Amino acid sequence: MLEKIREIFAQVDTAPIESAEQLEQFRLAYVGRKGVIADLFEGLKTAPPEDRRAIGAELNNLKNLALNKFAEGRDRLETLQAGVAQPAPVDLTLPGYPNEVGAMHPLSIVRARIVEIFGRIGFNVSDGPEIEDDWHNFTALNFPPNHPAREMQDTFFIEKNPDVVLRTHTSNVQVRLMENGKPPFRSIMPGRVYRNEAISARAHCMFHQVEGLYVDRNVSFVDLKQTLYHFSREMFGKDIKIRFRPSFFPFTEPSAEIDINCLICKGSGCNICKHTGWVEIGGSGMVDPSVLQNCGIDPEEFTGFAFGMGLERMANLLYVIRDLRLFTENDIRFLRQFGPVS
Ligand code: PHE
Repeated sequence: MLEKIREIFAQVDTAPIESAEQLEQFRLAYVGRKGVIADLFEGLKTAPPEDRRAIGAELNNLKNLALNKFAEGRDRLETLQAGVAQPAPVDLTLPGYPNEVGAMHPLSIVRARIVEIFGRIGFNVSDGPEIEDDWHNFTALNFPPNHPAREMQDTFFIEKNPDVVLRTHTSNVQVRLMENGKPPFRSIMPGRVYRNEAISARAHCMFHQVEGLYVDRNVSFVDLKQTLYHFSREMFGKDIKIRFRPSFFPFTEPSAEIDINCLICKGSGCNICKHTGWVEIGGSGMVDPSVLQNCGIDPEEFTGFAFGMGLERMANLLYVIRDLRLFTENDIRFLRQFGPVS
């Protein structure tokens, strides 16, 4: 009988289970109640009593082998049927997956350059909240309540509380800086601002400004002009031309808009400069004495200048980008073109 068991052992061991039919054949032949192993268990009853223990042990081994092989074959066929591929053997000679390296966002590059240029002439960086109260965004900056000047900046109000707005400019940081410290102040304030404008190639409801503030004794318009002239040359190159146009802001007096010559058409006229050869990059002026007063600074003792420039506008000029929406679409083909800060 032991010999018979060994024979079946070999059969079970080599029986192929590669299809549903073979699995069923295997089950009928070895696992089922009418199979050969069940017969052998039946035969055990008539074996000589002194041999039963040894034969029983062998039979149990045989039965376990058949059951395991059946279960393994069934699982394997099921997985194949579910369409789950068996894991391919690892080929260590294949080249690795490329490791994609990110690039800095063009606005971050421009921001870093501006921070660096002003850092070298003694300006530090200040930060402030994007959700702001009326005082810091408007009233302290000389926008009287209900004054049409507030209409210049299409404000997003937080509906439930008209005192809370998304800041329309980074000038709120000027106010916070002056309220919380003592002159001299020499600081720039880069940040995100919001205005309720329809999104197009030329306008967005969210964009970035860099504001600057210099308050000390004897600060004059000459300092303002020289600072911005120096900045423009560092930012756009030695040959850049800069021009100041008289303008109006409630918080500066006198006020001027800052233009540089169009880097895209080099002055010959294009859509970006509306065929004038000049592009506005921001506003500026001498801080209005009443703003200094609102922030607890004596305008008899101190004077100051401020400016605010658009980051997107500068990036457009430097990289010849004609559509503002590209900055926020996160198209990897666009972003990949900009290297890290040199
Ligand atoms: N805050 C102004 C704006 O957003 C820009 C500005 C800043 C003008 C500082 C003058 C001085 O339009």
